[in-house]
Amino acid sequence: MATTRGAVYRRDCLNLLSLLRDSSVDCVFADPPFNLGKDYGSRRARDDRRSEEYLEWCQRWLSESCRILRPGGSLFVYSLPKWAFHLAAFLENHLTFRHWIALTMKSTYPRGQRLYPAHYALLYFTRGEPKTFHRLRTPILACRHCGGDIRDYGGHRHALHPEGISLTDFWDDTSPNRHRNSKARPGINELKTVIPERCIRLSTDPGDVVLDPFGGGGSTFEAAQATDRYWIGSEIGNCRPVRDRISDRFPLDIRSEAPTRIRRIFA
Ligand SMILES: C[S@@+](CC[C@H](N)C(=O)[O-])C[C@H]1O[C@@H](n2cnc3c(N)ncnc32)[C@H](O)[C@@H]1O
Repeated sequence: MATTRGAVYRRDCLNLLSLLRDSSVDCVFADPPFNLGKDYGSRRARDDRRSEEYLEWCQRWLSESCRILRPGGSLFVYSLPKWAFHLAAFLENHLTFRHWIALTMKSTYPRGQRLYPAHYALLYFTRGEPKTFHRLRTPILACRHCGGDIRDYGGHRHALHPEGISLTDFWDDTSPNRHRNSKARPGINELKTVIPERCIRLSTDPGDVVLDPFGGGGSTFEAAQATDRYWIGSEIGNCRPVRDRISDRFPLDIRSEAPTRIRRIFA
């Protein structure tokens, strides 16, 4: 399916990535399967590999992602800390580390002799020095009941920027929808759109190209379309959830073929 700004292809990400030119995209946002044995509705979307096999597979799509990234471009990988530290060690050979962003995880429980898992990792790397870095702000949070501030700003409340607090590397307002019924597209582990949107706004400008190898329900594509970036992605399973989401939100932007800007990044 295609829009004025992008296109998603129903295929294996390794296949799509192999068709793209070197240094052709400005940002990669990847939310891969976590190898937890989930059923993504496609036999080809394997989520039950041995650990070494899973990490080798991740290294394949990460290597390709690094190849297609422009100098100064950014790469974000959303993962579990268990995998993220291996992925970060691998990425360090190719890119420059910027941040390990921790995103709160709700409603989990401790297993065996382990601590209660309470965060997801969002790795942020750039190819050399970042070409773009926009400082983002988050609103000053107010209590739902009394309207007062949730946090104590240590007597500096009056000095806060009216548009909010500078974004930190700890995001506690991005918990995924846990209940099947509350998800817009049941069965897909979709992220809140704010997660890819922040990454896109932070590290790209309008007109830049964003790639998501694991399209899922299309949160990255929605964020890119809404912020005037070009976008491209793959999804090995059914792309209908993406199509439905994008055509609901941007009915006038649907097109029969990818925009020229996206066609140009194919080798
Ligand atoms: C965690 S979900 C991504 C959710 C997405 N970020 C969203 O917010 O909607 C991972 C997706 O990757 C897809 N997938 C798994 N293996 C793939 C592959 N080799 N190539 C492309 N997509 C794949 C799965 O079908 C699944 O939809």
